[in-house]
Amino acid sequence: METQIVTITSSEPKESVDRKLMRAGEIIKRGGLVAFPTETVYGLGGDALNPEASGRIYAAKGRPSDNPLIVHIAEMEMLDRITRNISDKARRLADAFWPGPLTMIFDKSDIVPRQTTGGLDTIAVRMPSHSIALEFIRQSGGFVAAPSANISGRPSPTAAKYVIQDMNGRIDMIISADDIRTDAIGLESTIVDMTADIPTILRPGYITQEMISRRIGETDMDVTILSADSQQAPKAPGMKYRHYAPKGELVIVEGEPDKVVEYINEQTRIHRQNGERTGIIGTDRLISKYEADVVKNAGDKNDTSVIARRLYTFLREFDDEKVEYMYSEAFNGDGFGQAVMNRLLKAAGHKIIKV
Ligand code: TXA
Ligand code: MG
Repeated sequence: METQIVTITSSEPKESVDRKLMRAGEIIKRGGLVAFPTETVYGLGGDALNPEASGRIYAAKGRPSDNPLIVHIAEMEMLDRITRNISDKARRLADAFWPGPLTMIFDKSDIVPRQTTGGLDTIAVRMPSHSIALEFIRQSGGFVAAPSANISGRPSPTAAKYVIQDMNGRIDMIISADDIRTDAIGLESTIVDMTADIPTILRPGYITQEMISRRIGETDMDVTILSADSQQAPKAPGMKYRHYAPKGELVIVEGEPDKVVEYINEQTRIHRQNGERTGIIGTDRLISKYEADVVKNAGDKNDTSVIARRLYTFLREFDDEKVEYMYSEAFNGDGFGQAVMNRLLKAAGHKIIKV
């Protein structure tokens, strides 16, 4: 299949942008697939009400079809058509955080095919804030099912070139709009299950548990989010898969700064003797001390939003730079940092060394 790559820039006249998004919307209405930017990561969109389109999404990603998709909407009225039993709490969260990086799970209505929800009777819904995403959803008929636009298991794409790397030849169109980065976040949305007695966070993200609890009172956190050894299956089916993973082996190193540097440099020397390349994710204060082949600076250790925006790019660059062993400092796991550590732990297959 030939993939059209359509670039939209911030200086482009509105009519030209609208024309491109109308074409993209026509592809979706015909059952095709279009990758599009959001404020979190690029999504791989298809018509959420068309079971064949959902089937094509799973095939293009190489994703197991028991892993449900998020349905993206652009208008609050659309929520009532695809869900049942919207609680007051859910409406309060929608008021507070939509459009934005929050996904809520509801009971689904009959118009949504089970192919879109991975066989479940519940449905995940999000209203993204990215201006291109919103207009694209409107042009597509209002309901766009979209997982992240990566091959299953790879880091989610935060730039169009990574979507092209994974999806060129597999889908109809890629909308490239790196230039229009309203509120770029870099990690996937927070998922909260509103069908549970106590609303439960299934995937941490930019909207933190504290922000949610402040609006609706008590919330729970899925116990599998930060631990490796839980016997329970995660409640979001997608969270059970190894994820976001670079091709080489990633280890998180936690401890006193001097010891972290000493340990990583020692490993670097051993790998070098074996002819293997090493990469590091470090922060401002320690960055100049590392001896590895490839060193990535995640910035200020306390500014989680910077590492969040860079993490997936670093993981993909390590692959391009043929790094075989990677080490990362641990980050502060409070607030948005919980999402960063959750993704880093998954990318590392939960390998964490305390020094
Ligand atoms: O930021 C995001 O959410 C991005 C952008 C494109 O919007 N999308 C995204 O989709 O991250 P995806 O498919 O990569 O992750 C969706 C997650 C999976 O872990 C899936 O299992 C979970 O949402 N999920 C979807 N529907 C669900 C449901 N009904 N119940 C429980 N978990 C659900
Ligand atoms: Mg994904």
